[in-house]
Amino acid sequence: MSNHKRIERLRELKVKSRLGGGEERISAQHKKGRLTARERIDLLLDKGSFRETDAFVQHRTHDFGLDVQRYLSDSVVTGWGTIERRLAYVFSQDFTVFGGSLGEVHSEKICKIMDMAMKNGAPVIGLNDSGGARIQEGVVSLGAYADIFLKNTLASGVIPQISAIMGPCAGGAVYSPAITDFIFMVRGSSYMFVTGPDVVKAVMHEEVDFESLGGAAAHAETSGVCHVAADSEADCLFLIRKLMSYLPQNNMEDPPFVQTSDDPLRMEEALDALIPDDPGKPYDIKEVIRLVVDNGQFFEIHADYAQNITVGFARLGGHSIGVVANQPAHLAGCLDINSSDKGARFVRFCDCFNIPLLTFEDVPGFLSGTGQEHGGIIRHGAKLLYAYCEATVPKLTVITRKAYGGAYDVMSSKHIRGDFNVAWPSAELAVMGPDGAVNIIFRKELEKAKDPVKRKAELVAEYREKFANPYIAAERGYLDDVIEPKETRPRLINALEMLSNKRDVNPSKKHGNIPL
Ligand code: HXC
Repeated sequence: MSNHKRIERLRELKVKSRLGGGEERISAQHKKGRLTARERIDLLLDKGSFRETDAFVQHRTHDFGLDVQRYLSDSVVTGWGTIERRLAYVFSQDFTVFGGSLGEVHSEKICKIMDMAMKNGAPVIGLNDSGGARIQEGVVSLGAYADIFLKNTLASGVIPQISAIMGPCAGGAVYSPAITDFIFMVRGSSYMFVTGPDVVKAVMHEEVDFESLGGAAAHAETSGVCHVAADSEADCLFLIRKLMSYLPQNNMEDPPFVQTSDDPLRMEEALDALIPDDPGKPYDIKEVIRLVVDNGQFFEIHADYAQNITVGFARLGGHSIGVVANQPAHLAGCLDINSSDKGARFVRFCDCFNIPLLTFEDVPGFLSGTGQEHGGIIRHGAKLLYAYCEATVPKLTVITRKAYGGAYDVMSSKHIRGDFNVAWPSAELAVMGPDGAVNIIFRKELEKAKDPVKRKAELVAEYREKFANPYIAAERGYLDDVIEPKETRPRLINALEMLSNKRDVNPSKKHGNIPL
């Protein structure tokens, strides 16, 4: 065979491999409003940067007629490329080949790029679109999944791992994403479930459709499995690129610095008028975040889940930060089971990847009631406490209003290694709010009072005057300063730069035992 012929053959094979399961299945995928595995990669990575690995790989199974159905590349496209010129490894499951199902070689391909990502210290982004374990490969495909789960777990905290769910993901196909750091879904076209509607009907006698069982809304609002829900596949891939801009390549690096046009000394007068005079009135903490961070840009995580806490990424003076903020506009910003879980996971992610934490605190305490107690608020609240205690990244805290009870300790207080703790003059640091406190400590006096309503109002005013302010905590050094709201941005940027060489370590151990 001439060299020319050999090169022709190579080209033919590559064209064939790029066709996946064939034109018909590609067009079926498009008809469902979905992109193919390769089209997705092209949108995710910098133009022309993708380099494919293992395009010639094919499965080795003979059972159930698989010996006559072999596709170059099998059901996953793998390789590397760049996002904003930074290296990223990618796998993209190809639904046109056996429904993107995962067998032996599919897993080998993913494991190969995960090993490369670990060796070379770069993130892995998985675009998932899979019917789960390849049924024809039996237990081999279960083992193949487990190989990936182990790699996901070992890579956790070493390199960022991002999962996008781009189609129906069933069975094992949901557990690898679940171990990764962030899950993105597409509204109306991506689904995640351990068992689909048919199995639910057979086992539980429950009628449910794909969307309500495992659609983006179900997981972004109710289960909390999904961190970011996008409106389209293109939007989803764009948002992943955006998220990556806040993250370092691995746990040995600092996050990228991005020069900003926003003045680091900017005073923000609007903050001085933002807290309502009535401490019972809500306000939107996201407004505070936007007024403080660079160019008002805030990349929110879990925007629709446990909205009483707000978490996400932003920049201060060009430095990437993770923001955790109680949201008084939702359930008064109290800490409950879901918000504790949400906050704890985010704090731990930031700590893994050297991203400083900025906490805005306005919390009336933990939510009470049998629902919360029996659901384990003690255990879940302890996760957030544990996460903040163990975090060694720079920790900045601004108390805007209420810091009541255990929640005062939890939200990155000085006592648990807060580095820069300040309060606005509107801050109230106390064991509980004035009303509750007066009811407990003056119960006998109020029972005997001639006019209990008047007397209670006097006692509440007295308590508020004495305790509902930041100065007792500042007197003890629990706060480093009390600042005017408008100077929040310059003071935080200054503190962040002051902390840029922070060194703090936890005792050496195999790993801690977070109350899961
Ligand atoms: C092999 C599969 C497959 C699978 C789909 N296909 N799932 N092949 N193994 N698991 C194939 C179909 O035969 C079909 O092939 C093509 O993919 C497209 O599938 P359709 O059913 O036509 O597509 P659609 O109607 O869009 O439905 C998609 C789906 C459905 C919802 C994903 O296919 C489905 O329910 N699949 C099974 C899901 C499941 O139960 N998986 C096993 C989970 S157990 P052709 O040739 O017609 O194109 C598991 C255990 C691991 O994962 C546990 C680890 C913890």
